[in-house]
Amino acid sequence: SSLSLSWHNTEAQSQTYVIAQVSYSVPEEMPKGSLVGNIAQDLGLDIKRLKSGKARIYTGDSAQYIELNRDRGVLLIKEKIDREALCRQTTPCALHFQVTLESPLELFPVTVEITDINDNAPIFQKEERTFEISESAVIGSKFMLERANDPDIGLNGLRGYTLKPSDNFMLKINNQGDGSENVEMVLNAPLDREKNAELALILTAVDGGEPQMTGTMQIHITVLDANDNAPVFTQSVYKASIKENSPVGTVVVTVTATDADHGSNSRITYSISNMLDHARGMFEINKESGDVTLKGKADYEKARNFQVNIRASDDGGLTGSCKLIVDVLDMNDNRPDIHIMSKSNVISEDAKLNTVVTMINVEDADSAENGKVHCAINDNIFMLQSTSDKFYSLMTDSELDRERASEYNITVTCSDEGVPSLSSSVTLTLQISDVNDNAPVFERSSYEAYIVENNTPGLSIFTVKARDADWNQNARVSYILEDSSVNGVPVSSYVSVSADSGVIHAVRSFDYEQIKDFHFRVKAQDGGSPPLSSNVTVKILIQDQNDNPPQVLYPVQTGGSVVAEMVPRSADVGYLVTKVVAVDVDSGQNAWLSYKLQKATDRALFEVGLQNGEIRTIRQVTDKDTVKQRLTVIVEDNGQPSRSATVIVNVAVADSFPEVLSEFTDFPHDKEYNDNLTFYLVLALAVVSFLFITCLVVIISVKIYRWRQSRILYHSNLPVIPYYPPRYSDTLGTGTLQHVYNYEVCRTTDSRKSDCKFGGAGSQNVLIMDPSSTGTMQRIQGEKSILDEPDSPLEVRNCWFSFPRFNSQFL
Ligand SMILES: *[C@@H]1O[C@H](CO)[C@@H](O)[C@H](O)[C@H]1NC(C)=O
Ligand SMILES: *[C@@H]1O[C@H](CO)[C@@H](O)[C@H](O)[C@H]1NC(C)=O
Repeated sequence: SSLSLSWHNTEAQSQTYVIAQVSYSVPEEMPKGSLVGNIAQDLGLDIKRLKSGKARIYTGDSAQYIELNRDRGVLLIKEKIDREALCRQTTPCALHFQVTLESPLELFPVTVEITDINDNAPIFQKEERTFEISESAVIGSKFMLERANDPDIGLNGLRGYTLKPSDNFMLKINNQGDGSENVEMVLNAPLDREKNAELALILTAVDGGEPQMTGTMQIHITVLDANDNAPVFTQSVYKASIKENSPVGTVVVTVTATDADHGSNSRITYSISNMLDHARGMFEINKESGDVTLKGKADYEKARNFQVNIRASDDGGLTGSCKLIVDVLDMNDNRPDIHIMSKSNVISEDAKLNTVVTMINVEDADSAENGKVHCAINDNIFMLQSTSDKFYSLMTDSELDRERASEYNITVTCSDEGVPSLSSSVTLTLQISDVNDNAPVFERSSYEAYIVENNTPGLSIFTVKARDADWNQNARVSYILEDSSVNGVPVSSYVSVSADSGVIHAVRSFDYEQIKDFHFRVKAQDGGSPPLSSNVTVKILIQDQNDNPPQVLYPVQTGGSVVAEMVPRSADVGYLVTKVVAVDVDSGQNAWLSYKLQKATDRALFEVGLQNGEIRTIRQVTDKDTVKQRLTVIVEDNGQPSRSATVIVNVAVADSFPEVLSEFTDFPHDKEYNDNLTFYLVLALAVVSFLFITCLVVIISVKIYRWRQSRILYHSNLPVIPYYPPRYSDTLGTGTLQHVYNYEVCRTTDSRKSDCKFGGAGSQNVLIMDPSSTGTMQRIQGEKSILDEPDSPLEVRNCWFSFPRFNSQFL
C-alpha cells in the first residue's frame, strides 16, 4: 500500500481545525486482514486518542471493505476487493471513506485506490462455433467470428486473437471506428472435402497481463461436398480368364471404381461402353456391383480373348473407364476327328510286310495337351505308324492269309492328352483278296476202288474229291486223268475222269482174267493263274466174276479120232484108270473145281474123285464087262451160279491092243453128235431154199412190174426213168449174197457169249446164234430191230458179222 498524505486548507480550516487528507493504494484481491496502511501514524494521532476518540470508519451507504484496528492504529482489508466488480472499466478505482474521532470530533477523509491485477482471462461468450462451408467456396470468403471479453483493464485487458491452424483460414480484425473491433475468418486456401471433410480450428484471445491469460473458442468447420471428383477404377486394365464352355452367369471379374465425392456425387453406375464385334453379347455388367458376368458361350476354338471397355459414372455425370481383357482358357471339349484317307479297303493276301493299307488323318480342335493325339489299333496283324504330325499310316505287320482270315475289322482309337482325355474311334473293314496260293488237296493220299468185271462201259466207279482253300476261280478244281499206260495201252482207254465232278468212269468192260488191277494218277488243278495242282494215285482192283466155265485139258477132245484108256481085265479094285484134268481161268471159289460122273456105260464099275478127277475102278473087272466103256464126267466150279463142262472119257476094258482096235474101228460116231449134225444140215438147207425161192419170187415180180411200166410209158410218150429199189441190184440174180449186213449185237453179262441178232430187210424173224461150244440156236419172235425200219441206214453198234462167212460155214 502506498500512502499519500496531503494537507488541505479548506474552509473547515477556517473553523479552526485542520483536516488532513490520507490516500492509500492497494491491489485488488488482497486477502482479509491484509494491512492497508498505518493510519495513526499517518495522521499523527496517538493510539490513546484513537481509543478515546472512538475512532471509526464511516462509509455512508457503501459497503465497508476496510476496517480500522484501533489498537494498532492500522487499516486492514475487511473483505476481499474485486476491482472489476467495484469499478468495472472505470479508472482509477478508489474507495472513499472518513475516519471519524469523537471528542473532539475529528474527521479525516481517507482514499484507498484499488489497483488492477490481471485476474481475468479473455472470455468468449460461446465456447464453440460450427460452420458448414462448401468445398467449392471461393478464396476470400469471410466468416464472422465473435469477440472475446476481458474485464481487466489496461494492459491486463484484451490484447489480440490468434487462429490455429491457419492452413485454410486467416484472421482479420476490423476496427469499427468506435473502438470496437470485429473478428473475421477469411478463406485463403481452397477447401477439399475429400482431404479434410472436417476442420477444427481454435480461436485464442490473449490479454496483455503478466502472466498473460487467454481464452479460446473451438471452431468446427464441416466441408460440404461438391462433385469435383470423377469415378476412378482401381485398375486401369483388368485381366481375367474363363474356361471355355463356362455356364452363362459365371462371374468373370468384379471391377471397382471409387469416387472421392460424397453422397450422390459418389454413387457409381457401371456400364459396358463398347466391345469388339466378337465380344458383343458375350458379357454383361451389374451396374451396381460391377460384377462382369458371362452372357454367351465362350469357345476357345472361336475366340481366344475378349476386350471390353467399362465405364463408371457418378450421379453428377462424371465418368471413368477401364479396359477388361478376358482370356478364354482351352478345355478339352473336342474329340479327335479321325479321317480315313483312302477309299479302297481291299488288300491282296500276298501283300508284302509293311504294305501301307491306308493313311489316317487325325485332327483335334483343342490346343496344347488337349490337342495332342495318340492313336492305336486293336489288331496286331497291322500296325499304325506316325508319319508326320497328325498323319498315320496303317500298314501290315505280318503275313496275311485270306484262308485264315478273309476280313479284318481294324478299330483305330485316338485319344488326346487332356484331363480327362477324350477319344474317338473308327472301324475300318479290310477285305483280303484271294491269291492262288493253295493247291487243291485230295481228301485221301491215295484211293483204292473195286469194280466187278464185266461191268457196263460208262459205269461210274467212284469219285475222287479235292478241296482248294482258295476262293472262287482259284478254288475251282478240275480233275484230269494223267497219261500213263496200262499193259501198253493208254490208261484213257480204261477209265475217264469227269473234269468237274471227279467221277471216274470205266471206259470199257474189264476182264478179271486179263487184268486184275491197275493204277493211274488223277491230277486236280485249280482255276487260278497260274494254276496249282496236285495228284493222287488211284488203284482200281477188278473183282472176279464166275464168267468162265472150267476147261478140260485132259483127256483131249478130238473131232474124229477116238482116244481110249486101257483097263486090263486083271485090274484090281481102285485101279487108276485116268485123271481128268481141268482148269478154270477164274479165281478163288470160281476156280474151285469138282468132278462128278454124269453118265456111264456101267455106273457100278467106275468112280471119279470129287476133288482130283481121278477115275478109278470100284469093283473087280469081269469078263462080262464090255470092252467099250463110255464115261461122261462133269466138271463144275464153285462159283455162284456155277459153271460146268463135260468130258467124255472112253475106256477100253481089254487085255490087248488088237482087241481094242477091233472093237473101236466100227465104233460108231457119237450118235448124239450125228443126230445134232443131221438136224443142223436139214435146217440150213431149208433156210437156204426158202431164201432162194423168195429171191426168185421178188425178181420175177420186179421184171413183171418193169414190163408193165415200160408199156405205160410207151403209150404216154413220157421219158422213161428206170426205178431201182434201194439195196437191190442185178447181182442178186447170181444168187450170191455179197452185201455185208450189219447187225446190232446185244452183249450179255457173259462177254464170251455174244448173242447176236440179225435179220434181213422186212424180216420179223431173227436168228440168234450162240457160237459157244454148246451151240444152241433159238428163234426169237417180236424183237424189234432197227432193221425193221426199211429206210433207215443200218447202224454199227458193237460188232460186225458178215453174212456170207456165216453162210459158207453152214452150207
Ligand atoms: C466286322 O464287322 C462287321 C460289321 O459289324 C461284321 O459283320 C463282321 O462279322 C466283322 N468281321 C470280323 C472278322 O469280325
Ligand atoms: C505228283 O505228285 C507228287 C507229289 O505228291 C510229285 O512229286 C509229282 O511230281 C507229281 N506228278 C505229276 C505228274 O505232277
